[in-house]
Amino acid sequence: MTDRALALKVDKLTMVSRRDFLAAIPAAMAASHPLLTWATEEQSVYIPGKEGMIVRSARFLDLEMPPEFFNAWITPLPHFFVRNHMSEPGTLDAESWRLSIGGEVETPLALSLRDLQAMIWHSVTNTLECAGNGRAFQQPHVPGIQWAKGAVGNARFSGPRLRDALQRAGVKSTGKHVMFRGLDEVPGKVPPFIRSIPIEKALDGDTLIATHMNDAPLSKHHGFPARALVPGWIGAASCKWLSEIKVLDKEFDGNFMKPGYRMPNRPIRPGDPLNVDDSHVVTTLNVKSLISTPLDGSIVKSRTLQIQGAAWAGEADIVKVEVSTDVGSSWHPAELSHQRAKYAWRLWRYQWKSPKAGDYTIMSRASDDQGRVQPATAEWNPSGYLYNAIDHIQVHVQA
Ligand code: MTE
Repeated sequence: MTDRALALKVDKLTMVSRRDFLAAIPAAMAASHPLLTWATEEQSVYIPGKEGMIVRSARFLDLEMPPEFFNAWITPLPHFFVRNHMSEPGTLDAESWRLSIGGEVETPLALSLRDLQAMIWHSVTNTLECAGNGRAFQQPHVPGIQWAKGAVGNARFSGPRLRDALQRAGVKSTGKHVMFRGLDEVPGKVPPFIRSIPIEKALDGDTLIATHMNDAPLSKHHGFPARALVPGWIGAASCKWLSEIKVLDKEFDGNFMKPGYRMPNRPIRPGDPLNVDDSHVVTTLNVKSLISTPLDGSIVKSRTLQIQGAAWAGEADIVKVEVSTDVGSSWHPAELSHQRAKYAWRLWRYQWKSPKAGDYTIMSRASDDQGRVQPATAEWNPSGYLYNAIDHIQVHVQA
């Protein structure tokens, strides 16, 4: 098979079984082709602009950022994770696209992209994290996309404030929640991606109808032409491919709010199912830090090592990151980077001189201004949401 035929075969995010694929091309070519990512034994995909990402699902695209890309304060778009519950919209025409605003409002609106562009813009640098990030580390294991560390990224989102659009429509006193509907292509009996946020968060000056990410128009993977940006909250709150905003008199209770994206009101035992009547919708992110350098399993030649990572806390501020190199017996403050913004992660670093050659466990622990401290063990829940246990990696320091 020629290179061109190969590209056609793997384009459009087609899932190809490894056996079919290897039957079609020489194995050596598969191993050396720079645009291919092996996700599991069963699938490979080519995703233009997203090379090097870990493919967690190809049927509905779910791409994870490898840990080595955590070192930039602003995550470059090619490395920004993607989380789709279903297929991305097939065609999206910027000219004919309209965003309807209705429900508990005085004057329903249908805004075009030009209308959004003519409004006052605001930018928010926000760490967007999927509620399921870290699910793979939950013990005992829970079903769902087995995200490890990289269903998170930090980007500058821009666009008009949601508040301005809602005020133009005139929210009635009965308006308590604001619902977003995306244009995802819904397979079979799967319910559409619709969620809602409380009116107070919708009217917050930092909640956006974002049309840009890192100063570029949103790509299709990230919600072109417009998405909600609900800063400090789990990624699911930030609905992509927005088509409808509806003001409701109560919280929306469709599938992605109930039973989806809920946490138990009190800790439950591993294995126990969720009682939806004793649970709440997940909103803000937890306090959390991750180690990006060195990589887990590294063999390092120098006794002096720069340990680095990122830390975030949703709507709260990171006040401290500590590092341990002796399996948690002692903790040492890391230096926090001067780059900061209200909802953005802080990069941190810690210079360490290992006392001797050998194997070491390096750990990081973040604290925020609400008094929350990253725990040794994350709270278990049946969907594996908000995993935030102290991060740890292993390194071998050579003699
Ligand atoms: N919006 C729609 N319409 N459909 C989706 O599947 N996924 C949500 C959210 N918005 C989703 C969506 C989830 S679970 C997350 S974590 C974020 O989008 C991911 O945003 P990203 O793909 O731009 O990183």
